[in-house]
Amino acid sequence: MKVKIHTLFQYLLETTQAEPEAIVGFSLADSPVLGDFLPDLDPTLRLDWNNRDFTGLPELKEHVLRQASLGGLFTPADVLITAGAAEANYLAIMQLVQPGDEIVIETPGWPQAEVLAKAIGADIVKVTRREEEGWHLPLDALADAVSAKTRMIFLTNPNNPTGDLLSDAELREVVRIADRAGAWLLVDEVYAGLEWNGPRAASVAGMYARGITTGSVSKALGLQGLRTGWLICPDAGMVRDAVILRENSSEIMNIMGEVIAEVALRPDRYDAAMTQARGAGKAHLTQMNEWIAAQRGLGWVSPRAGLIGLGRLPEGIDSDAFARFLLGDPYRTFVLPGSAYDQPGHIRLGVGGGASVNLSDGLDRLSCALSDWQAATPV
Ligand SMILES: Cc1ncc(COP(=O)(O)O)c(C=O)c1O
Repeated sequence: MKVKIHTLFQYLLETTQAEPEAIVGFSLADSPVLGDFLPDLDPTLRLDWNNRDFTGLPELKEHVLRQASLGGLFTPADVLITAGAAEANYLAIMQLVQPGDEIVIETPGWPQAEVLAKAIGADIVKVTRREEEGWHLPLDALADAVSAKTRMIFLTNPNNPTGDLLSDAELREVVRIADRAGAWLLVDEVYAGLEWNGPRAASVAGMYARGITTGSVSKALGLQGLRTGWLICPDAGMVRDAVILRENSSEIMNIMGEVIAEVALRPDRYDAAMTQARGAGKAHLTQMNEWIAAQRGLGWVSPRAGLIGLGRLPEGIDSDAFARFLLGDPYRTFVLPGSAYDQPGHIRLGVGGGASVNLSDGLDRLSCALSDWQAATPV
């Protein structure tokens, strides 16, 4: 079993040193700085592990349940603190999916499940989200894809990269589909809390005995570098299996990540941070929607949640070539090509990152690059 590189990570690796002057497509909210937390940290904290619980700080786990509205249903024993949602997904997939099992995934979607499933030797069944249907997950196609051989369904809600969102009623239907096959249902809700047209969707851990919810402080709170996330599941055996694998990878939690995340998720702080992130996200999405409407040949389905969506390039432009052209002089602007999501006619657009990404400047440069490209290659 060898984990092979995916085009998304390949592009990030190849462009890390490019030093762009603007980024359009950042997926996380403006990041706080360490000083924002110092008054609430204990300078005598020993930088050992938390010395209390191999599954994470109990008070942090209480906050995790609260933000997912699962407080009444679950106890901290049902939560495992992980190195981001990425590790939570990793632990669940690696412990539950065996060679020859079927895993049902969405496309476009976050590539992690596909990369790991390939390494495991599992059979991958894809359900396609289509732009003409607003990138919405087709539940009839999902039902057709799931069979008695399906071991796991892996979805992102909100979806990376389209920003589509499943409603509670749709999630209940997804649960019925999973239940008919006895499949595990992992829903990664790392972008939750940034819904633009309605309430946050319910977490599947609270809806299904084989439901697994993963999330983290990375996106809406902008705290990606803490590497602190979680897995919530009503199945105690699943949580235990995840801890066993974790003992053999990152072993324990990052103590600084845990204590800072605990402060960040305290109700007052969390609610204030979410109000701030939602306000900024909404304003920047309005700016992006207006900008896209003014571009010749560019379009997108505005995300229903989260800070990113897929921008459709004018006919005939290849996303890889265009992303590299845009990253070069004189534009020096980073976007992720849609090829990273099997969408070579799209680029990932987004509005996260706060002042550090120079969004307005990036959009101007993107406009210039588009018209320069079109002028150089007339159709
Ligand atoms: C859908 C999805 N899941 C998980 C991750 C990883 O997040 P974390 O920083 O919590 O590990 C990302 C990061 O981009 C993501 O988009």
